Amino acid sequence: MNKLFGLIGHPVSHSMSPLMHNDAFKQLGINGYYHAFDVQEGKLEEAVAAFKVLNMSGFNVTIPHKVAIMEFLDEIDEEAKMIGAVNTVVNSNGRLIGFNTDGRGFLSSLLEIVPKPLIESNVLVLGAGGAARAVVTAVADHGVKTLAITNRTLKKATEIKNNYYNYKKSKNAQIDIVSLQEAEANIGVYDIIINTTSLGMSPNIEEIPISIDHIKPNVVLSDLIYNPLKTKWLQLGEENGAIIHNGVGMFAMQGALAFEKWTGITPDTARMTKIVMNQLGGKSC
Ligand code: ATR
Repeated sequence: MNKLFGLIGHPVSHSMSPLMHNDAFKQLGINGYYHAFDVQEGKLEEAVAAFKVLNMSGFNVTIPHKVAIMEFLDEIDEEAKMIGAVNTVVNSNGRLIGFNTDGRGFLSSLLEIVPKPLIESNVLVLGAGGAARAVVTAVADHGVKTLAITNRTLKKATEIKNNYYNYKKSKNAQIDIVSLQEAEANIGVYDIIINTTSLGMSPNIEEIPISIDHIKPNVVLSDLIYNPLKTKWLQLGEENGAIIHNGVGMFAMQGALAFEKWTGITPDTARMTKIVMNQLGGKSC
């Protein structure tokens, strides 16, 4: 019998997850099927109860349910608790367990392109929303030379820092909160700059999250956005000699990690990335 997997979110009609996961099931000869379920905000509890009754094997969670889902699960993994959001649920003998694979997905994609070890790198994170929480947790856990967060609303950056320190007994990284002006003035210090804000996302493609006139040579500019594939910020960075990295790898990797949690099998991540790229109609960067 086919095992049923899926995505719960609103809207989900443009999601690339069904194509990516169903291809992996086929490739690996697994009897699985992945379907995107459009569930409106007030209907989440009912939908989760229905998934349980139907004995669904696992599912992904996306906007706007990543935080709200937590109260309807039986257990939440420590990393997801620290991030404060769930994007992957595993049905373990009828118990629904929540995980978050966004941060690790981002990290593995980033590690593929960095020119020097992360532990020797000064890292700046732009933004302090849900995506930033996942990125900061993964990057800080991995260990870096220095880690700074900047955001329009600095209070939210401080909350991420405090939350991380509250959860972590061993502090792998010291997190500094810097104003946007400070970050811009010291932009030449950073080896890796990660944009987690929505600035530059379609349709606002002319926006950039921070000026990069004085970046150091070989800096890595990583933008979580994948629509457009090359934001104006990445384009300017590339013209200034930066190594650029978009959000496609993170998307594919978070999916691959979810797949691994459901099946115990690591899918072909290069193939997953290619499928997403084809869907988006471009070349990865
Ligand atoms: P996500 O889950 O994708 O991270 P989010 O939680 O809404 O989404 O966070 C959006 C991030 O983009 C925040 O850091 C937000 O800044 P604030 O915390 O100050 O709101 C940032 N952002 C969105 N629009 C922005 C804008 N016009 N200028 C500056 N920052 C912006």
